[in-house]
Amino acid sequence: MAKNVAAFYSNRSEKFADKHSIDNVPESYVKLLSEFSDLVKTGKVLDAGCGPGRDVRYFAKKNLDVIGIDASEKMIKEARKRGDEKYQVMNVEELDFDNQKFDGVWCNTVLIFFKNKKREKILNELRRVLKPGGMIHLGLKEGSGTFLREINNESITQYLLSQAEARKFLEDNEFEILEIYVNETNQDFNFLNIFARKIE
Ligand SMILES: C[S@@+](CC[C@H](N)C(=O)[O-])C[C@H]1O[C@@H](n2cnc3c(N)ncnc32)[C@H](O)[C@@H]1O
Repeated sequence: MAKNVAAFYSNRSEKFADKHSIDNVPESYVKLLSEFSDLVKTGKVLDAGCGPGRDVRYFAKKNLDVIGIDASEKMIKEARKRGDEKYQVMNVEELDFDNQKFDGVWCNTVLIFFKNKKREKILNELRRVLKPGGMIHLGLKEGSGTFLREINNESITQYLLSQAEARKFLEDNEFEILEIYVNETNQDFNFLNIFARKIE
């Protein structure tokens, strides 16, 4: 298992799965899922760091040919309990897929755990498996510095980006940004949802 982050989530996979079901996410999040499905329209989708598979199930219902991967075996186990969609235990840093396999890549609140070179390496791995012109969604957190995510007395660091930094991150790695949505929270960050296309 890719250590640290996935281990942190493995320890709370069942609770996470119950808490983050499709019935518990805000309407604004369902709109993002819907917009992504409409933009991809048809073909193969990768949910990178899918957790217990909430978004995989949504895309499967939209008739997309979706596979979810996660480095946590326990998360994949929770996902498999909830449906017969395709899942694999896999590290997003080294995807076991051919180049240009997917029409769309969905990656929600996974890159927030990585900084600088590692974050860039993962984005390039996601880029590698996308077809030219393929669609990516990144769910990030907007702010400055770091945010300590605490659950049951354990904590993990998340790295926040300004909108300008997030934009530069994608553009420097040959993506064309289509939309950036900011969803405000009452915490020290906002959710930053970016839709972009791989430049051919
Ligand atoms: C905050 S959860 C988000 C899960 C899901 N995308 C969602 O929106 O509910 C982060 C997920 O990333 C997974 N993860 C962390 N590091 C990973 C890695 N290197 N490769 C694949 N998955 C990873 C964790 O196991 C966890 O399921």
